[in-house]
Amino acid sequence: TQVYLNGRFINQQDAMVSVMDRGFMFADGAYEVIPAFYRVPFRIDQHLARLDFSLSSIRIENPLTHEQWRGVFDQLLAENAGEHQSIYLQVTRGVAADRNHLWPKGLVPTVLVMTSPLKMRLDESLSDIQGITAMTTEDLRWKRCDIKAIALLPNVLHRQRAEEAGADEAILINEQGQVTEGSSSNVFIVKGNEIATPPKTMPILGGITRDLVIELLQAGTQYKLSERMLLQSELRNADEVWITSSTKEICPVTMLDSQPVGNGNVGPVWHDIAARYQQYKL
Ligand code: PDD
Repeated sequence: TQVYLNGRFINQQDAMVSVMDRGFMFADGAYEVIPAFYRVPFRIDQHLARLDFSLSSIRIENPLTHEQWRGVFDQLLAENAGEHQSIYLQVTRGVAADRNHLWPKGLVPTVLVMTSPLKMRLDESLSDIQGITAMTTEDLRWKRCDIKAIALLPNVLHRQRAEEAGADEAILINEQGQVTEGSSSNVFIVKGNEIATPPKTMPILGGITRDLVIELLQAGTQYKLSERMLLQSELRNADEVWITSSTKEICPVTMLDSQPVGNGNVGPVWHDIAARYQQYKL
């Protein structure tokens, strides 16, 4: 497997970073996950714009131009296995001389890009798609979840907790009893004719898949789309619950906290949006 590290394409086993890298010491960096279907990065402009936002929010200058990022992605996608791949990129503040919270001037950011084979979930007959299970848990994260920061300890603990409770994803609830998002996904609910998702004014990641779902829904459907606060009780009483992410696409949740969502089956509104998404993707 080839990876890109600081300007060079090398084998993954040979890719080494100093223990003094601030990514290792402080989780001081940002990342992106970009799906590539048929070896073509999907919604790349949106992902690169979000990378610019994350990096400027943590005051790291983007070390590559968009043109250069695309060149790196194309080379890795061509050389690595997988008709569909997920691109992972990470930029840290760089390697410092000593461990000091304060960052020194003139650091050179560390840049890593790698890919891994991606199972395109929504490529088969939609009627074969199974729902997943989710559990709700308290959102333990900081206030800047809009930044795609590499500091993912709370997300890791949330996800692990869900796994140990037999659930595929953790859906996070803030102190006011409102839904924020999943441990690595955004959340939508359907109730009657309304499709609702928490607004980006909340501390959540502005998911690229979330934005696309909204875009597809706004392009002439009969549903009422709302970006609004969702209470945990609304999640429990929803007809349908979906989670979205670059790697999970649009994924129906059919069990929530060991109770069926709606009638426990993958719902008709999900089928509608999944078909639109599939069509857009191909
Ligand atoms: N996670 N919310 C969180 C906290 C996430 O980590 C992610 C994505 C999303 C969905 O964003 P998008 O649609 O842009 O993938 C929402 C990636 C896939 C990850 O960390 O692996």
